[in-house]
Amino acid sequence: MSNNCAVILAAGEGTRMKSTKPKVLAEVLFKPMIDWVITAVRASGIDDICVVTGHMSELVCSHLDSDIQTVLQAERLGTGHAVMQAKDFMGKYPDGNVLILAGDAPLMDSETISASLRAHIEGGNSATVISAKVPDPFGYGRIVRSKDNALERIVEEKEATPEEKLITEVNSGAYWFNVKALLDSLGKITLSQVKKEYYLTDAIEIIKRSGQRVDAFVALNEKVVLGANTRVQLLDLNEIARKDELTKHMLNGVSIPCIDGVIIGPGVEIGADTVILPNTIIRGKTVIGKDCEIGPGSLLENTTVGDFNNLNSVQSFNAKVGNGCDIGPFVRLRPNTVVGDDVRIGNFVELKNSNIGNDTKISHLTYIGDSDFGENINVGCGCATANYSGNAKFRTVVEDNVFLGCHTCMVAPVTIGEGAYTAAGTTVTKDVPSDALVLSRIDQVIKEDWVKRKNPYKKKEK
Ligand code: UD1
Ligand code: CA
Repeated sequence: MSNNCAVILAAGEGTRMKSTKPKVLAEVLFKPMIDWVITAVRASGIDDICVVTGHMSELVCSHLDSDIQTVLQAERLGTGHAVMQAKDFMGKYPDGNVLILAGDAPLMDSETISASLRAHIEGGNSATVISAKVPDPFGYGRIVRSKDNALERIVEEKEATPEEKLITEVNSGAYWFNVKALLDSLGKITLSQVKKEYYLTDAIEIIKRSGQRVDAFVALNEKVVLGANTRVQLLDLNEIARKDELTKHMLNGVSIPCIDGVIIGPGVEIGADTVILPNTIIRGKTVIGKDCEIGPGSLLENTTVGDFNNLNSVQSFNAKVGNGCDIGPFVRLRPNTVVGDDVRIGNFVELKNSNIGNDTKISHLTYIGDSDFGENINVGCGCATANYSGNAKFRTVVEDNVFLGCHTCMVAPVTIGEGAYTAAGTTVTKDVPSDALVLSRIDQVIKEDWVKRKNPYKKKEK
């Protein structure tokens, strides 16, 4: 176990989000902001994490993994007060260091966390602020340095003098503290008269005055300071995270000739030479193989796709596709669908909770639910499984080499044996033996001049 731990501050309200959810659950690339922070902390090798919750505490707590501790800040009295709530947690590391982070700054990364810890230890610091230089410092705490460039203190926007407001080096809200130095200083923070809050930033000056070393570590990328108070700022964070994610995939050999509407969530894996076309969203635990073409207009969530597949305008959720399939346009793969290799699934086909064997063709206007389809089946246009009786679902089994004529309706539970053939328009209600032809429609009947006699529908005058 390392001698370091992390405390993430997440008690704030975020009123400007105008949301019924707590701010730290607002999403960047479909992932709540606090999860980004936790991912960065874990990736830097810190496992013991405590989250300070307050506003809508139950929602935040129930969202977090069970190995993350939480403490409640019952009243929001500022960042210094928030950290104080975690003093028992930090107390487990009397000789260690604690990383303090804001739960609403999701673009903090593990490289910055690790590099700042090295600077903190090598510099013999008791406190190290992670700072960044930004073009527009408005709203952030400013890093005040002395003439010899040493860190003096942090001044908040509302308390800064006009001169201090010109400083462009700002506080990210993330810090490394020696645990003992932090615990000693927290009790000495006084209430700010301007915001009626206990500022964590005051701990820096207090530690410095006690004769210990403090410093600011300037992050290479200014994005680490960015937080979101409004949904407009959330869009900015999304755009940064989106470009970063797309860049990573392109550098791994994925082609994205136009990034318009392409959103790929964190954790998605895509093989080399796969092409992602516009208006495609890929998220959740999705894995895509090599040499595929995905899009335009596809949405894949928790979907596994093999190699050499085309998925054009496909909506897929919790499904699996083999290799060499041609799917789309306008196909919906619903949960627990497993498609084999070299399968063709054409326009307006919906598959749910079904297995589809290799080389099967389902080319148009079909619904297959709760079914096990074998290999090399030809599904004619407009086939449907009647899988739902109104109160229960039943399975349909179609064995290898079956030919389903257009508009075959399969009333489950039912099995169509290997190599059987259904005539167009057949409703299959009983099991069909192998190699049989099944037809349930009546022979065609012609009644000569029936229309002239009955005249049931008025013809348009010519
Ligand atoms: C804080 C810093 C500022 C820094 C900025 C970076 C202080 C006094 N100022 O300002 O120097 O530039 O972050 O974004 O720390 N929180 C609690 N309990 C509270 C108050 C806040 O848990 O009582 C949490 C919030 O949920 C948030 C984080 O602490 O995740 C930062 O709080 P916020 O109020 O946003 O601080 P800023 O005013 O942005
Ligand atoms: Ca903030």
